[in-house]
Amino acid sequence: MPAQTTITRVCMLLLVSTLLLWKDVASKPSGLLSIEALYNRVVDHSHTTYVLAADIYSEFDLNFFKRSWFTDRTLSLCHTASIYTPDTREEVHNTKTEDLLKAINNITHAWEEPLKHLLSAVPTLPGSSENMLKSANAVKERNHVLLEGLETILNRTQVEFEDDTYPDWSGQSDLESSDEETRLFAFFNLCRCLKRDTHKVDTYLKVLRCRVAFKNECIYF
Ligand SMILES: *[C@@H]1O[C@H](CO)[C@@H](O)[C@H](O)[C@H]1NC(C)=O
Ligand SMILES: *[C@@H]1O[C@H](CO)[C@@H](O)[C@H](O)[C@H]1NC(C)=O
Repeated sequence: MPAQTTITRVCMLLLVSTLLLWKDVASKPSGLLSIEALYNRVVDHSHTTYVLAADIYSEFDLNFFKRSWFTDRTLSLCHTASIYTPDTREEVHNTKTEDLLKAINNITHAWEEPLKHLLSAVPTLPGSSENMLKSANAVKERNHVLLEGLETILNRTQVEFEDDTYPDWSGQSDLESSDEETRLFAFFNLCRCLKRDTHKVDTYLKVLRCRVAFKNECIYF
């Protein structure tokens, strides 16, 4: 379809040019940025956060995952499971900007506390790696910066909140258990949920950036 190919090309060009612009604005205070630049900034963080979370998960999977967990233990729901999030591409597209922003904000807030505990738990893994420690620290920092960026976008979009409650995480005692197997399984659950949630947040923010900055005429993945 030639028309679509043209649109795709135009959008790729737009993306490239915003990436170039992005270099200039990276140091400006967020209050002065356009909404497009704000979205570029948060997507930059959400993308890196997801990549780091996926790294932590793979490293854990490679070194500590046990097949027996599938039969011996029950995976718990992620602590953010109560936050409504659209699943399919179509559902995401049919969700209002305000509702997507609220869900992203809710998820990102809900990870502030568990990420601190994830970081403290890395050194308790047998033969824990420097690399995983660095990634866990970077995810914690990025999540926080992401939250600040979201707040600016929410303020700008004038989204009103009914409350300021976020789902609690209850895995701390298991993550600090003296039983190694319990500790490892709790770590597994946490990094599995982290990978899932950071992926959601990154996907939603890319959809929103496309919607807001490119009037939906762009490609993202
Ligand atoms: C976050 O989601 C939970 C679960 O759905 C909900 O009870 C809470 O009100 C939400 N918080 C915000 C600030 O949207
Ligand atoms: C968002 O608005 C609230 C209330 O007006 C204000 O306290 C807060 O500093 C603002 N945050 C940002 C990041 O602009």
